[in-house]
Amino acid sequence: MNSAIYPGSFDPVTFGHLDIIRRASAIFDELIVSVLDNHLKSPLFSVEERVKILEKATKDLPNVKVDSFSGLLIDYAKKKDVHVAIRGLRAITDFEYELQLAQTNSKLSKGELDTMFLTTSLEYAYLSSSGVKEIARFQGDISMCVPDFVAEMMYERYGHKQV
Ligand code: PNS
Repeated sequence: MNSAIYPGSFDPVTFGHLDIIRRASAIFDELIVSVLDNHLKSPLFSVEERVKILEKATKDLPNVKVDSFSGLLIDYAKKKDVHVAIRGLRAITDFEYELQLAQTNSKLSKGELDTMFLTTSLEYAYLSSSGVKEIARFQGDISMCVPDFVAEMMYERYGHKQV
């Protein structure tokens, strides 16, 4: 089976991520979307919440599985016997970091883990999870950024009534 992993923080998943998930799931037999359990960050949503959010947001894509991981991506990929990581590229500003990540993973895995980039659709090129959080914190409109149920969860987390 031709599988790929789409790793990320997904705090929270945006329409940009969902666009990449949909397109990658059409290329591979199986796509594992995996949330990084990063103890250094203080996320808005716990790993368990992010997994649940992703499961709900991708329920119409039968070949998408949602999981979480901690530690190195190459070790997780090896455990899953997957050799391709998917990452989305929005703009040139993403490129330097993503290139470094991809090359580090390739080197560390001795060529066992390749990274495939999908360019973000233009309509979502401006979106970032941190930007969405900032807008939600000040009760701005995030309906064009995340699914409605995610927006509700975010406003609730920030202690706002529904806008
Ligand atoms: O959504 P993000 O925060 O841009 O995702 C970054 C992620 C999760 C892909 C990256 O930080 C990662 O894979 N972290 C796991 C640790 C690791 O393997 N690092 C690679 C060597 S620098």
